[in-house]
Amino acid sequence: MTELAIAKDTVPATLAQLISRFETVCRDGTRELGDEAGSVPAAHYIDRAHWQAEQDSLFAHWPIVAGHSAELTPGSALPFDALGVPIVITRSADGRVRAFFNVCRHRGMALVTSKGTAPPKATPCKALVCPYHGWTYELDGHLRHRLHAETFDGIDPATLNLVELPCDEAGGLVFVKRTPGPAFSAAAFLQGLDQHMQWMGLADMKVYRKVDHVYRANWKLTADAFLEGYHIRVLHRDTIYPFFADAITVNLRAGPHQDSLVARRAAIGGFEPPRDRAALCKLSTPTQLIFPNTFLIWHPDYVSLIGMFSPAPDEVRWVHTMLIPPERSGEDWGAHWEKTFNLIEKTVFQQEDIATAMAIQKGLASGANTGLIAGRLESELLRFHRGVDAAIAGSLTPAVR
Ligand code: FES
Ligand SMILES: [Fe+2]
Repeated sequence: MTELAIAKDTVPATLAQLISRFETVCRDGTRELGDEAGSVPAAHYIDRAHWQAEQDSLFAHWPIVAGHSAELTPGSALPFDALGVPIVITRSADGRVRAFFNVCRHRGMALVTSKGTAPPKATPCKALVCPYHGWTYELDGHLRHRLHAETFDGIDPATLNLVELPCDEAGGLVFVKRTPGPAFSAAAFLQGLDQHMQWMGLADMKVYRKVDHVYRANWKLTADAFLEGYHIRVLHRDTIYPFFADAITVNLRAGPHQDSLVARRAAIGGFEPPRDRAALCKLSTPTQLIFPNTFLIWHPDYVSLIGMFSPAPDEVRWVHTMLIPPERSGEDWGAHWEKTFNLIEKTVFQQEDIATAMAIQKGLASGANTGLIAGRLESELLRFHRGVDAAIAGSLTPAVR
């Protein structure tokens, strides 16, 4: 049996094919290019009607990643409001995740709130107790208790359970839809990427830190920055480019999602087939887009889970959760992760990628460009925008069964 055959036995077939294509381009020094150059209309980043159409389609009706599975231990509740409506996600003692509007059925108070300006964190709890008059709900949404229940004459408590939202979990991620409706399968939605995540051990990761900030840029500008490797050489010249090849990426499409391997210098000239995540991440930065607004970026020894939400046409709510492997979560790793977090979040993302998105947003408002041009090294960016347009038009819907 050859080395490659051994690797393919353990790696999911679609990922093995991607690695094989990656091996070819790295060995031969070639690039896989898209079919054509194109452009994205400037209006798609600034126009309120376009933003509203995204809200009414993508953000209202698609499963959206609300967090990593490790954020919710059994018997806990996590407030989640990045989709513009108050949601609470619970994990009951049996491990099942559910989502509800975070709205008390009495007079509408939020049941779980986050403290101060810190990113929302799950609270361990046995039940959800409304802070206004104490109505109490089980973690499965059932109304358990009302103070002075006898005073609510003629109001049937069976009609007062929390309003449930579709919610499911796969590959280490919790998905929610902000509109009530039928259940969906997160595994089906991921169209095979859940197997990639499983092989890479996403579900076992631990949360090191989470940041949650709003910046003045359309959410798709930050998405664009993770859909092409063309900019790494220039924008990230002094930070991460020393570790990367120049714009060598292979992409796998899984429905509207994608998995990409962005070549690191170590891969150039050829390599031994990677047998595990650590080996793969020395050669490449695997980057997954979970359509529409979530990215997983696999750095050499940690993962960035990034949600890009859209509170307004010219605002992105950037939620970056830095995930670390369990074997490196002890206290003696603290200084290492602090330094890593500062490099990736504060320098590379905030000062380079996000700062660029904000500068572009200002430029778009000037009217100088009617569109943003993308070449054949940026074809996945164009595909992403075609996906957004198709979702708005109703011709692309999530595969959830
Ligand atoms: S609003 Fe929740 S108990 Fe009154
Ligand atoms: Fe970047």
